[in-house]
Amino acid sequence: MEHQKVLILDFGGQYNQLIARRVRELNVFCDLLPCDMSLEKIKAYNPIGIIFTGGPNSVYEEGSPRIDKGVFELGIPVLGICYGCQLMAHTLGGVVEHATTSEYGKVEVEYLPSLITKEMPQNAVCWMSHTDRITKLPEGFKMIAKSDNCPFAAFGDEEKKLYGVQFHPEVNHTFMGTQILKNFLYEVCKAQGDWTMSNFVANQIAALKAKIGDKKVLCAMSGGVDSAVAATLVHKAVGDQLTCVFVDHGLLRKYEAEEVMSVFKDGLGMNLIKADDGEEFLSRLEGVSDPERKRKIIGEQFIRSFEKQAKAIGKVDFLVQGTIYPDVIESGKGKSAVIKSHHNVGGLPSVVDFEEIVEPLRDLFKDEVRKVGFELGLPKNVVMRQPFPGPGLAIRIMGEVTKEKLETLRDSDYILRDEIAKAGLDTEIWQYFTVITNSKTVGVQGDFRTYENVVAIRAVTSLDAMTADWARIPYDVLETISTRIVNEVKHVNRIVYDITSKPPATIEWE
Ligand code: XMP
Repeated sequence: MEHQKVLILDFGGQYNQLIARRVRELNVFCDLLPCDMSLEKIKAYNPIGIIFTGGPNSVYEEGSPRIDKGVFELGIPVLGICYGCQLMAHTLGGVVEHATTSEYGKVEVEYLPSLITKEMPQNAVCWMSHTDRITKLPEGFKMIAKSDNCPFAAFGDEEKKLYGVQFHPEVNHTFMGTQILKNFLYEVCKAQGDWTMSNFVANQIAALKAKIGDKKVLCAMSGGVDSAVAATLVHKAVGDQLTCVFVDHGLLRKYEAEEVMSVFKDGLGMNLIKADDGEEFLSRLEGVSDPERKRKIIGEQFIRSFEKQAKAIGKVDFLVQGTIYPDVIESGKGKSAVIKSHHNVGGLPSVVDFEEIVEPLRDLFKDEVRKVGFELGLPKNVVMRQPFPGPGLAIRIMGEVTKEKLETLRDSDYILRDEIAKAGLDTEIWQYFTVITNSKTVGVQGDFRTYENVVAIRAVTSLDAMTADWARIPYDVLETISTRIVNEVKHVNRIVYDITSKPPATIEWE
């Protein structure tokens, strides 16, 4: 079944993915596509509405991104946000100027009645982030909101269904910002709200059945939520025609391999093969302490392990990958620099004999993948699993990876996770884990002097792992974690808490 679509044109602003997620949360499907999309392509996309995002440029600057004026003649509603609203005003004959006073942060605005301000209070706080401002509206437009420094904080041509907001309705700091987006979608674009995860599951299973027929499918399962949900969808569609391979590289967290096998093999009855190659990984890592070398070795060895299993299975027709929407978005900002060489199962195709890739989650954001996981009946510990890097615990042990350090890390990490869950913080914190710091300190336990490992606790809040803030775990929870680790885990006599955000640090220590 075809669903309605909203087109979001990406002008490079920092909140662009958030706009798309908000629209999806309001049960309307949308795509975030580069702002240089041609008018023909926009028409062919057939959206019920178009949103222009914010962006770092000034419309009066040479070389700043433009839009074909024809987009306003299509009879499709448009909402311009921040740069998007300035671009709309500029293109249609209004005036945009550099403002003498910038507005950053929370600003009080006064709303006037209109379709997009329906149910909004008369005065409320919104989130502004701009240095340019509109000083004259194009013909046919009226002011819908204003602030002290911004005479046209929102404006619109209700007849042509064109609207602009200078502030960011998608961020939580804008009081009832979601209502403005909802009004645009439901009052202006007449959305039906047909994007739900139960529809998605039913449609995907039918589509996968039709596509795969009676052919063979292979999936590399990492235990992470994306590959787990992708595999489960395919399994629901074609059952035993799917074989999953799970590589246990010996760098997993405590009980992780057992959990994966019990949920997917015993619980769902999946055809799941576990490759127990821990010894090989560890022997290749012996004596290696450089982080990039560790990552490379693990990435290569992972492919060898998978290759071995794939050879035994023989030719397959399809390979399942857990690619999700943020991986396929071509951002208006261009490619960012590679900070660390990420190891993902994405490197597999060249080693497997298959004809086509299936990516059932390529249209979904992470929160949608999680909803699909729950729809499919997967347990909470799988669906809400925190992100876990492909190289596993190896990049949480500074220096050489040894069996002893792995055991210390597993035990301390297990205690941390247990206490975070008991404190009810497990869904609030994006990632939390322990790190073996590769330094030893002097301590005293009983009447004895000790010289043991320093274990660090890393816990961050984040939306997408691109930026992160250190989590403010309450002191009493930290105290319990610290006391338990030094008492229950061998070879640890000191706990430190990492209070660095990303940037300048990264989430992982290596
Ligand atoms: P950093 O440490 O770069 O991590 O701030 C950002 C996010 O990526 C995860 N991460 C990885 N994930 N393969 C992965 O699949 C990797 O090699 C890898 N390295 C880091 C990290 O856990 C965090 O969520």
